[in-house]
Amino acid sequence: MVLMICPSLMCADFGNLEQEVKLLEAAGSDIFHVDIMDGRFVPNFGMGLQDFDVIRKTTTKLVDVHLMIEQPGDYVAFFADKGADIIYFHPEADTHPTRTIDKIRQKKKGVGIAINPGTSIEVVRELLPLIDYLMVMTVNPGFAGQSYLASVTDKLRRLTEIKHQHNWTFHLMVDGAISEEKIRELNPLGVEGFVLGTSTLFNQAEAYAEIIQRLKK
Ligand code: DX5
Ligand code: ZN
Repeated sequence: MVLMICPSLMCADFGNLEQEVKLLEAAGSDIFHVDIMDGRFVPNFGMGLQDFDVIRKTTTKLVDVHLMIEQPGDYVAFFADKGADIIYFHPEADTHPTRTIDKIRQKKKGVGIAINPGTSIEVVRELLPLIDYLMVMTVNPGFAGQSYLASVTDKLRRLTEIKHQHNWTFHLMVDGAISEEKIRELNPLGVEGFVLGTSTLFNQAEAYAEIIQRLKK
């Protein structure tokens, strides 16, 4: 089963962001995850644009942006031109999600949607054949260090079922309070990508390389 490690860099040591990215890349990270927030869609402000620039210039690995912002379609070109490889937006915050998907496609970037714990599969069903990544929030978005919402696990099971029924190709990802134990539980359910913050990767006793190599075993 594919297992992608996606460090959530809002949890990194901002005094040494460049060094953190280099260590995490050397440790075997697959996609760097950059949380962008507007204080409206979520009651918080994530990483800054300068942080994104530092990450982008430091690594050749994939870098995503997780747009937790209102009307994300207005910022697709902005982040695509800054060098984001994958653009995740929340359909809950977008009047015309299929138009936003087209905008990302036109910029030749990976198309991702992120859905909140309370958003049902039915609400986004029409988008599922159109995307490359589906990121299922396992916490209410906006903050690191929260607890995993157990009710989401069944949604992940059902998403894998419907994906296989229709031969859709999106990668199923999770974001929020993902521990090592959750990775072991969810990977066999079809979850391929894991955004990791304070529950597994950051503020731990072990080095990034030790953690990531163990997770990938
Ligand atoms: C929350 C962000 C997550 C978060 C993950 O809104 O999207 O990426 O930073 O951090 P943990 O793993 O601590 O929940
Ligand atoms: Zn995120």
